[in-house]
Amino acid sequence: MCGIIAYTGIGPALPILIRGLRRLEYRGYDSAGVALLDNGLLTRIRAVGKIDVLSEKIKDQELLGTTGIAHTRWATHGGVTEENAHPHTALGGKLMIVHNGIIENYRELKESLLSDVQSLPPEEPVDFKSQTDTEVLAHLIAKHYQGDLRRAVETALSHVRGTYGLVVMHADHPDILVAARMGSPLVIGMDSTGHYIASDATPILAYTNKVMFLDDGEVAEVTSTSVKTYNLHDEYVEKHLEHIDWDEKQAERQGFSHFMLKEIFDQPTVFQDAIRGRYNIAEGTAQLGGINLTDNQMREINRVIFIACGTASHAAMIGKYAFERLAGIPAEVEVASEFRYRDPVIDTHTLVFAISQSGETADTIAAVREAKRRGAVVRGIVNAVGSTIARETDGGTYIHAGPELAVASTKAYTNMVAVLLLYALQFGRLRRLSLATGTRVVDALREVAEKMKQTLQLSEEIKKIAQKYSGYRDMMFLGRGINFPVALEGSLKLKETSYIHSEAYPGGEMKHGALALLSPDFPVFGIMTKNQLYEKMRSNIEEVRARGVNVILLATEGDSSAQELADDVIYVPETMELLEPLINTIPLQLFAYHMAVILGRDVDRPRNLAKSVTVE
Ligand code: AGP
Repeated sequence: MCGIIAYTGIGPALPILIRGLRRLEYRGYDSAGVALLDNGLLTRIRAVGKIDVLSEKIKDQELLGTTGIAHTRWATHGGVTEENAHPHTALGGKLMIVHNGIIENYRELKESLLSDVQSLPPEEPVDFKSQTDTEVLAHLIAKHYQGDLRRAVETALSHVRGTYGLVVMHADHPDILVAARMGSPLVIGMDSTGHYIASDATPILAYTNKVMFLDDGEVAEVTSTSVKTYNLHDEYVEKHLEHIDWDEKQAERQGFSHFMLKEIFDQPTVFQDAIRGRYNIAEGTAQLGGINLTDNQMREINRVIFIACGTASHAAMIGKYAFERLAGIPAEVEVASEFRYRDPVIDTHTLVFAISQSGETADTIAAVREAKRRGAVVRGIVNAVGSTIARETDGGTYIHAGPELAVASTKAYTNMVAVLLLYALQFGRLRRLSLATGTRVVDALREVAEKMKQTLQLSEEIKKIAQKYSGYRDMMFLGRGINFPVALEGSLKLKETSYIHSEAYPGGEMKHGALALLSPDFPVFGIMTKNQLYEKMRSNIEEVRARGVNVILLATEGDSSAQELADDVIYVPETMELLEPLINTIPLQLFAYHMAVILGRDVDRPRNLAKSVTVE
């Protein structure tokens, strides 16, 4: 996700900004920029690519000034261009802003600004130069600026829906920075030279351990000698300095031991980013504009093919179930490395979704080209904005999971599933899906983040179970229906992080051969949550149990009967059957993570694997 570093004090700001940007590189980015205020003149320099590119652009310039802001951008709205890089400006270059987060209603705000130009300050020609939501924020603040920068920010933010962590500066206020937080962290540090503001403690730790964390809905007015915090009603809020004893590595992971664990715990937040602004409660449907198809064109689709690899293919399987159940459209999942060499029967009524976190997986790119060559409608469901798959498909949807740094994919999988469920809902409501059912799906989606948070609280309990099974060299994951892809994902997570051999089977398939594998040395992890296949799954577990096999069960809260069938039971909150993977996968991610740590594996960088397989 994007990174922010800002400084106001008695020292030169530029070296602090550049060093801070480098400390933020771990967050993943595609462009960067700085703005400095020196003798009433605000200078901005931005560059696409790495910090070195930005440094090269800066080196010939005499950028002095003791107040500045800087940003690394992970593209969400708008492509990877210098125009889209932060800081963004308004008031004829006198106001600068850097921002993390997603402004949900930025289109409405932009239209309102453009339709209300006469109410803007004379020096505020609202000529949007970028595709970003942040630039809209800059002009909105400018509209409300009447000499008090903090009040202008507070007033502007009262019109905003979405998430932000932002810092604003103005040429007429030489040592003031205004910071505001809603859903995207901001930390303020203090040392003898002045104050630092950053999106996490990493870039600040080089100067101080004395920090304060802004809370949601708070605005801070920061000068070289003071920090005053207010709520959005301009009421003063008392804040206290804290002492953090993280080193820089820990700060990068926001205190988590590994990126994989941080990203597992990111899921409630990024899941909300995936669905934010993409459903319509009143209509009981989803609204994913990026698909670039009219309603009638969507109605004419008579087949859906998902192409993906690895974890993305497991997410795709959830999409298959969802499209069949909600939209009544035949759907199939093709592993991209197979699809590209087959002779798929495709026509112009076939919709092919390419699903990819990186957007750079070679097999998936090749499959996209093959599908296009055969005349399919091809769309992307991708995390990395501006990636090859995003560019080569004729539309689609970004999953807004933020940079996923651990090789083992977790939050991206969850957000892929979220977007696939939204698409299935959208297609379904254009066909036979009733308003009542559509509304039930939307209501269930809106409850998922809280249920994810509850499930994450099981981490320590799951760690104990992993400890108990850390001596085994084999494990079988069993699931049925919507939970078979969950079993596949849990098996992949375990094998790719802990190197334990694991397999995944549909519960009903075991008696056709794989049952011969099971023994007291070959434990089973069964997913037996309450849904239409519960009784069937229960029978499968009984078959397994009868062979003296150790069993871990994932069961629905309140199902005490599960204790009779298992050595260990992990209880998860109940949700609508189609949405179960959003909850049920989390304990499996945690199980794999803890097992890998217990076995001393390189959790974030498992052997033999790359984060993005850009070669065949
Ligand atoms: C999953 O944990 C792995 N990292 C791997 O299976 C991954 O999902 C696969 O390589 C596809 O990557 P993509 O989503 O970037 O295309």
